[in-house]
Amino acid sequence: MAMSSCIFFFFLFSLAVGDSYSSICRSVCGNLTVAYPFGLRPGCGHRAFRDLLYCINDVLMLHIPSGSYRVLDIDYPYDALVLHDPHISDCGSIVLGGRANGFVVEPWRADYLTPSPDNVFMLIACSTRSSSSSRNCSRVGGGGMVGCAGYYGCPAWDIIRPKSSGYDDGSECCAVSNVKSVNLTELDCQGYSSAYSVAPVRERRPENWSYGILVKYYYRSGGSDGDDPFFSCPACEATGGSCGYQAAGGNGVCLCGSRNSTSDCDSAGSPQEFPLLKLTSRNKLKTQLVFLSRS
Ligand SMILES: *[C@@H]1O[C@H](CO)[C@@H](O)[C@H](O)[C@H]1NC(C)=O
Ligand SMILES: *[C@@H]1O[C@H](CO)[C@@H](O)[C@H](O)[C@H]1NC(C)=O
Ligand SMILES: *[C@@H]1O[C@H](CO)[C@@H](O)[C@H](O)[C@H]1NC(C)=O
Ligand SMILES: *[C@@H]1O[C@H](CO)[C@@H](O)[C@H](O)[C@H]1NC(C)=O
Ligand SMILES: *[C@@H]1O[C@H](CO)[C@@H](O)[C@H](O)[C@H]1NC(C)=O
Repeated sequence: MAMSSCIFFFFLFSLAVGDSYSSICRSVCGNLTVAYPFGLRPGCGHRAFRDLLYCINDVLMLHIPSGSYRVLDIDYPYDALVLHDPHISDCGSIVLGGRANGFVVEPWRADYLTPSPDNVFMLIACSTRSSSSSRNCSRVGGGGMVGCAGYYGCPAWDIIRPKSSGYDDGSECCAVSNVKSVNLTELDCQGYSSAYSVAPVRERRPENWSYGILVKYYYRSGGSDGDDPFFSCPACEATGGSCGYQAAGGNGVCLCGSRNSTSDCDSAGSPQEFPLLKLTSRNKLKTQLVFLSRS
């Protein structure tokens, strides 16, 4: 082979190898794609979301100190997760007895994972001993916004108490939003509902609200103000790598098969380190096809 075809071949070969690394961390659980900044494998994703998501029988679960939640959706463009608490109250039923999780994350994770400002927690049957000033809640909501005033219109309340008796003692429902956590034990509440209605669609009817916990996730990678100024996930992914973090220290790392790079898969790595043994069978086939087409 002439030198030029050698180089050409090497280029194709690199492409075939390159796309194998992107599958190191990306995974699918049920109908949800788990990608950066999340990861299901240790060392994958951003360190802020380590030990958080688990795929159990094709159901994506999120574990935090307050409990386990089913992940209904991951909205990557909006940087949000939709969580379902198995004992959350909704429009059709109210679950009392303090069985629900609420929402409490580890203190170190609170800056990375916090309920969306669009999300309203409606605390139900809270003890009057827990002062409403510490709860800072409101029984109203008004203007088509999610809140207790609208929530009282749900059929679930017919079962708890006949509508005619009114709900004026303020302990039946109490709405809070813009909070980092909801600890039902601390607040001494029997249950809660959580709903959101994302702008510009403001649903007036409580039947049409989305029930669940809308959680925003925050992380930065790269840039001088980033968590990790020397690592850029887009740069890593552009060279076919998967973004992860180092076990020690938690700095970002680009996973490139048999080697790791602090930047991307094109830089560093001497020819001897070329990850021949890590080729997947799919890529082996691709490489053989390249051979055939060139001969
Ligand atoms: C909620 O608050 C109670 C009482 O202060 C505390 O014992 C418990 O650990 C808290 N729960 C979480 C998940 O932090
Ligand atoms: C995933 O499937 C469930 C039903 O199993 C459905 O309710 C949900 O809307 C689906 N989510 C997405 C993002 O397609
Ligand atoms: C309660 O809400 C007011 C504004 O509505 C805010 O200024 C105040 O800091 C809040 N208090 C607590 C304890 O969150
Ligand atoms: C709201 O829900 C009702 C049924 O509860 C439905 O008939 C109506 O079309 C919904 N409205 C919107 C704007 O989706
Ligand atoms: C690369 O980094 C990942 C995640 O920290 C780690 O699990 C793996 O062992 C590292 N691989 C090498 C070859 O150092």
